[in-house]
Amino acid sequence: MRALIIGHTGGIGAAVDANLRSFGWDVIGLSRSTHGLDFRKPDSIDVAFADITEVFDLVVIATGQLDGAGGPPEKTIKALAPDAMADQFMVNCIGPAMILRALPRLLSKNSPCKVAVLTARVGSITDNRMGGWYSYRAAKAALNQVVHTAAIELSRSHKQSCVIAYHPGTVATKFTEDYQRTNKTVSPDEAAQNMLRILENAFPENTGKFYDWRGAEVPW
Ligand SMILES: NC(=O)c1ccc[n+]([C@@H]2O[C@H](COP(=O)([O-])OP(=O)(O)OC[C@H]3O[C@@H](n4cnc5c(N)ncnc54)[C@H](OP(=O)(O)O)[C@@H]3O)[C@@H](O)[C@H]2O)c1
Repeated sequence: MRALIIGHTGGIGAAVDANLRSFGWDVIGLSRSTHGLDFRKPDSIDVAFADITEVFDLVVIATGQLDGAGGPPEKTIKALAPDAMADQFMVNCIGPAMILRALPRLLSKNSPCKVAVLTARVGSITDNRMGGWYSYRAAKAALNQVVHTAAIELSRSHKQSCVIAYHPGTVATKFTEDYQRTNKTVSPDEAAQNMLRILENAFPENTGKFYDWRGAEVPW
């Protein structure tokens, strides 16, 4: 079995990479720090994908950022800044969307293929009871719409595909380092095992849905 992990240098991406390798999977990783795949430079996505010709059983998009250029997640609408908001959309929505654009030729049309896109529960509009974090929430909500739409399109050409938006829980990575004192976290390894368990049970009838680490559907 072969997997492609975008963001294999991140806390969750690296743990998914290690887990799959331990089960004997052939894993290819692509990342900003190792391959120059930088969502702020969209051309770098085409360059990074140009040499990839393999067909994958599983693709995980594990990239993301919490702090947009210029600052931490906004606590109030007064803190909204166009540059930071645009940066959040570039890194958390447009970049992963361009990865999804590159995928159809790399996924099998004749056998099961699965794609998991790391989004976040805070991207759920229904679940938003606390407010705040405008740009991150909005970029993840937009990404959720892209994932859902891409899943519909892919299911027409790749009948056995399953594309999901995925919330990993609160994981002890660099991403959450400012929040780990006040929030319960799981290790990246546990988060990777949770995700692979959910993916094992992800089939074409689950495509286009948003799941959390327990396997529960998250409302949009
Ligand atoms: N950790 C959590 O508690 C949590 C909770 C909910 C959702 N999530 C989601 O899970 C995903 C992964 O989180 P994580 O905790 O593993 O984060 P992380 O440890 O900070 O890793 C982030 C990854 O994203 C890549 N990345 C960042 N900016 C990029 C850019 N401009 N262009 C291309 N790649 C970029 C990094 O690449 P380099 O290292 O190579 O620079 C790294 O591989 C994110 O989408 C996040 O929103 C995480």
